[in-house]
Amino acid sequence: MESTSQDIRINKKLFGDNFKWGVSVAAFQIEGACDAEGKGASIWDVFAAKKGKILNGDDPAISCDFYNQYKQDIDLIKQLNIQCFRFSISWTRILPNGTGEVNQAGIDFYNSVINYCLEQGVEPWVTIYHWDLPHALELKGGWTNRDVVEWFKAFATICAKNFGDRVKNWMVMNEPGVFTGAGYFLGIHAPGRTGLRNFLPAIHHAVLCMAAGGRILRDLVKDAHIGTTFSCSYVEPHTDKQKDVNAAKRVDALLNRLFIEPVLGLGYPVHEVSALKDIEKYFQPGDKDLMKFDFDFIGVQNYTREIVKNSFFTPYVGASLVKAEKRGVPLTNMKWEVYPPSIYQMIKQFNNYPQIKSIYITENGAAFPDQVTDGMVDDPKRVEYLKSYLEQVLRAKNEGLKVDGYFIWTLTDNFEWAEGYHPRFGIIHVDFETQQRIVKSSGHWYADFLKGN
Ligand code: BGC
Repeated sequence: MESTSQDIRINKKLFGDNFKWGVSVAAFQIEGACDAEGKGASIWDVFAAKKGKILNGDDPAISCDFYNQYKQDIDLIKQLNIQCFRFSISWTRILPNGTGEVNQAGIDFYNSVINYCLEQGVEPWVTIYHWDLPHALELKGGWTNRDVVEWFKAFATICAKNFGDRVKNWMVMNEPGVFTGAGYFLGIHAPGRTGLRNFLPAIHHAVLCMAAGGRILRDLVKDAHIGTTFSCSYVEPHTDKQKDVNAAKRVDALLNRLFIEPVLGLGYPVHEVSALKDIEKYFQPGDKDLMKFDFDFIGVQNYTREIVKNSFFTPYVGASLVKAEKRGVPLTNMKWEVYPPSIYQMIKQFNNYPQIKSIYITENGAAFPDQVTDGMVDDPKRVEYLKSYLEQVLRAKNEGLKVDGYFIWTLTDNFEWAEGYHPRFGIIHVDFETQQRIVKSSGHWYADFLKGN
């Protein structure tokens, strides 16, 4: 195993005064209030209602009730000395049918959240799209329909015009690789579609939307700081054999390069993943330029690494993952390997693109089986996880690599998509029956760390 730089001990000061510290959440995972005050159904509302899609049949309708509890949660952010709060906007709270008439109650809600953050001295960092496409648009083809670019532009314009006077830090999209891959290829996330004929157009349209969203924010928001975020896992071959090395290159292209490279003007990594060659079918004249946008920053989101071997029988990529459970390594509740150097490696890999101006870690964190004992939640494994990953962020920074901020995933335990409420990722424990919040030891540790202790 690569050195984990045990000698690096973290301390907030070592990251410099301009380094941003935050916590990230997503609308659908925390808000609940699934049909309150005119909100329309998203693909996740519909998907979660289908039998067998969500572990234990968990229901996201209430979740952590952030819609009603937001003041309490923002108060906690302030108490924990967290400077930046990254959250997303629910498209169907604002446009219940995806396009057309605006639901003023939705605008009012996000205005209240933004204003309350600012009153408490917490910087709002807003993601426009974190996976909850309006169901009405899915009925028209969703991400596979080229019209999604116009629908998305209209939604992004509303966000920019209504919130851009106070919100300066924006992320157009969260992890397009996951919502297209899990939602339009594997079918394990909403809307549950499968196959290349759904995946390829969804990829291309997501890229066009990312760049279009960036241009809209640039035009409409004065002094905007504009980014977009990607899920990244450090990929290593199972053995030194050439066929495993090549398999790892293909998986790396799919997991880590597929969305950033077209945005930077480098095109899709078609050479490594030949299954992508048909993506050109979805191109229209001018797309090569429309796919590009000069983002101010890129959000790198990392949790783990993947070990890859050649697999002749796996269609399209000819590669398979060697599961962490079979490798005898430390695991989180998601069965993801705890491997701190992966975050360092991803920072390094993204630094290899000279076009990227700045990098923020917009998500990093872990799920563990936390228990309430005597009104407290002690989660030493999460504290250790966060510290050891942060050491690796510092290692990157000390080597002169670009990395300008770090956001923990996540504030409160929440609805973890197809895994329901089972994995608890929060630094604050939530009792989903009573909505009671308890700051975990990790939350106290972060507060102390951010105080400079
Ligand atoms: C997503 C979050 C998710 C987290 C943990 C990221 O892929 O942006 O929505 O909860 O990872 O799985």
